[in-house]
Amino acid sequence: MADDRAPDGTGFRRLMGRWATGVSVVTAHHGTADAGLTVNALLSVALQPPSLLVSLTRDADTVPVLEASGAFGVSFLAADQRQLSERFASTLPPPEKFRDVPFHRGALGVALLDGALGWAECRVVARTERYDHLLFVGEVARQALGRDVDPLLFYRSGYAEAVGNGRLRLPGSRGPDAPPAPPR
Ligand SMILES: Cc1cc2nc3c(=O)[nH]c(=O)nc-3n(C[C@H](O)[C@H](O)[C@H](O)COP(=O)(O)O)c2cc1C
Repeated sequence: MADDRAPDGTGFRRLMGRWATGVSVVTAHHGTADAGLTVNALLSVALQPPSLLVSLTRDADTVPVLEASGAFGVSFLAADQRQLSERFASTLPPPEKFRDVPFHRGALGVALLDGALGWAECRVVARTERYDHLLFVGEVARQALGRDVDPLLFYRSGYAEAVGNGRLRLPGSRGPDAPPAPPR
């Protein structure tokens, strides 16, 4: 096995880069404050009741807003929403992130980004601290399907790109029409 050793942060990041994920924007709303960040550490915990877990870095500006409201929204991004992923992953102050971004408010008051593949609104039912992250389990109070188009995918620290004819090219790959790569 190549690279067979105890993990350090860099090696672990490279390993997890082999795990392709979708990309979401997790939002929170409290009083007049909106906050949100790009998240791919998201999983479906259970179907009964429908529930999601998100893992958020402790120092994210979104965390205090989410904790104050006890709720969060999830917008599952489409392939053509890469700019939104970049915007919500930036260090812009929370209000700036929403500037000129079309969104609608869900029943729990959270901002749900227009044009997404779908949305979930969750009430926080469990919170746990691990290392430099906080894990929030939310029961899905409301959900909706959005556009039925390609998802935004994150892989090897990059985004998949649309290459036409409904095809996506993964970062680090040679494209759907390329001949097979030689063995390494
Ligand atoms: C594709 C992608 C996925 C990310 N996933 C997470 C995640 O799961 N949890 C997290 O805390 N940060 C994640 N981030 C980083 C946050 O989006 C970033 O730290 C953001 O600036 C935090 O925003 P805030 O401080 O306004 O809340 C991700 C970034 C990218 C580009």
